[in-house]
Amino acid sequence: MRVLVTGGAGYLGCHVVLALLTAGHDVDVVDDFTRGTPASLARVEHLAGRHVTTHAADVADIDAVERIFATGRFDAVVHLAGLRSTDECHDRVLDAYETNLATTFALLRCMAWYGVQRFVLSSSAAVYGGSDDGTPLAESARIVPSSPLGRSMATNEHLLTDLAAAGAVRVAVVRCFTTAGAHPSGRIGELAKVPGAGLVARIGEVVAGQRPHLAVHGGDHPTHDGTPVRDFVHVADAAEGHVAALEGLDDTSRAVTTWNLGTGVPTSVLDVLRRVERVLGREIPHRIVDAPARTVASVVADVTRTTTELGWAARRTLDDVVRDHWRWHQSNPHGYPPTVTPETPWRGGVGHRLRLVPPPAAVNPN
Ligand SMILES: NC(=O)c1ccc[n+]([C@@H]2O[C@H](COP(=O)([O-])OP(=O)(O)OC[C@H]3O[C@@H](n4cnc5c(N)ncnc54)[C@H](O)[C@@H]3O)[C@@H](O)[C@H]2O)c1
Repeated sequence: MRVLVTGGAGYLGCHVVLALLTAGHDVDVVDDFTRGTPASLARVEHLAGRHVTTHAADVADIDAVERIFATGRFDAVVHLAGLRSTDECHDRVLDAYETNLATTFALLRCMAWYGVQRFVLSSSAAVYGGSDDGTPLAESARIVPSSPLGRSMATNEHLLTDLAAAGAVRVAVVRCFTTAGAHPSGRIGELAKVPGAGLVARIGEVVAGQRPHLAVHGGDHPTHDGTPVRDFVHVADAAEGHVAALEGLDDTSRAVTTWNLGTGVPTSVLDVLRRVERVLGREIPHRIVDAPARTVASVVADVTRTTTELGWAARRTLDDVVRDHWRWHQSNPHGYPPTVTPETPWRGGVGHRLRLVPPPAAVNPN
């Protein structure tokens, strides 16, 4: 398939691009490089030995997106462009909703104009809101997000459900749990100095002496050791899950199918810290700090449906996560060249964010 990947220069996105190329698909990427960097895609091309056509554009800018669709027919869109940090979405509510929703609108309009029907939304476990008693969350669990990130993603999901019910698109929603680790080559991985950097990336900074200690959000949650429990899934597994969802889309009779991408293994923040200490053979300083009110105790996936229907299961362990992240960190202590900094400004769109009339060039074979 020829696949348009949005946000393909980002942490999860570049691993998805690599997994798609490895599976034999052709890939175009659109990214505005507010967080991702072309360097990640250059490395993906090198790892895959394949070319990636890259478009620098704001996906919320419908004119820019339409110009990309006009370059040739796509068979599918995999949508990862957006703001992924819970804290950043909390602090920048309008930016979060605008980015996470306007990008989806622009893509869906262009898909309608150009007759593209397959859409994979990289959603988040944040839509569930978590559980206090540690019950694993199946796709049928209640959607009660506790953050603007989760609510913006849930809104995307509602929109897609309504659109798919009208027969306009076929949709796979993949709900990623806590993605961590890096490609085993150490060539692509997670930047630590961006909003929303994950736990393993932050621990890596402490190990490297770039942070004095790890701040742990709360020590009195109703979990086995009082610290928050999450489901840490290796980024390469999560990326392969996106490919499995895309390829499984045509086999399901449902217009919208939701699949969890997690391990099903509950792991607390202290569990991760102890694991890093064991793998690296050294003690890592940490401090328990007050948790933001929106911190939920436990977010763990029930992956029964994904395993049964897609044959996908996470293959890498938490030790793999730690080792692969550390390899990446050691070879790239300051990230990709040039380093993307948290000060990267929000550029906003320069074109139209919404347009109701199809462009004259659009050809919809349906
Ligand atoms: N990383 C995780 O732990 C995680 C967990 C759950 C879900 N997800 C999903 O995966 C997506 C990507 O996550 P990530 O970790 O790769 O984040 P990221 O910030 O590393 O990547 C996002 C990419 O999107 C690009 N982007 C942002 N706004 C854009 C816009 N308007 N137009 C074009 N490009 C834009 C950024 O430049 C960046 O390259 C998230 O949006 C989220 O839906 C990630």
